[in-house]
Amino acid sequence: MAIAVLGSGRGTNFKALAEAINDGRLDARIVCVLSNVENAFILERARQMRIPAEYIDPAPFRTKLDGTAEQQAINRLRHYGAELIALAGFMLIIKPRLLKAFAGRIVNIHPSLLPSFPGLEAWKQALAYGVKVAGCTVHYVDAGTDTGPIILQRPVSVLEGDTAESLHARIQEHEHLAYPAAIRQVIAVIRGQSPH
Ligand code: GAR
Repeated sequence: MAIAVLGSGRGTNFKALAEAINDGRLDARIVCVLSNVENAFILERARQMRIPAEYIDPAPFRTKLDGTAEQQAINRLRHYGAELIALAGFMLIIKPRLLKAFAGRIVNIHPSLLPSFPGLEAWKQALAYGVKVAGCTVHYVDAGTDTGPIILQRPVSVLEGDTAESLHARIQEHEHLAYPAAIRQVIAVIRGQSPH
């Protein structure tokens, strides 16, 4: 399974996927990493692993992948033969053209137990609300923000004295286990659908 990873930040979830592949826990390969942030560390990580890594300038948009940037992303994903797209800390909204080009083949990881706390810095929202159980969710991407069908969730207890940083760090440890496991499930579904 040819996976493309889209990210905007540090890329620890990308690293977890790459490690799962190297360990034989995930039968896939990462064919490219695309980012809307030119100096994002995820691109650097990919280059260190000799995985093609490309910046896509989202201008004139700041919060969505649309217009020429969206078309450029589709072209590059096709060029690399991507069969599955894993959003890993990708902070732009995915619009219908890309959704249609990879229908049922785009997944995302989000740092909360959806449908609670969609949007930005979900762990801070959870802490501010005072929930006792936070977590992470892997889901299929649809046209909403963090709303697609859920594939897998992991709960994470909020501890006495947690800060936003300590809670996010603990959620991320769970994300790094959840994402490879969820993608394994997705690959099994896709393989079950393909004609043999
Ligand atoms: C992760 O915690 C991921 O769940 C979150 O961004 C972080 C990226 O970390 N994504 C979202 O908030 C998307 N709505 P990483 O770059 O180290 O993988």
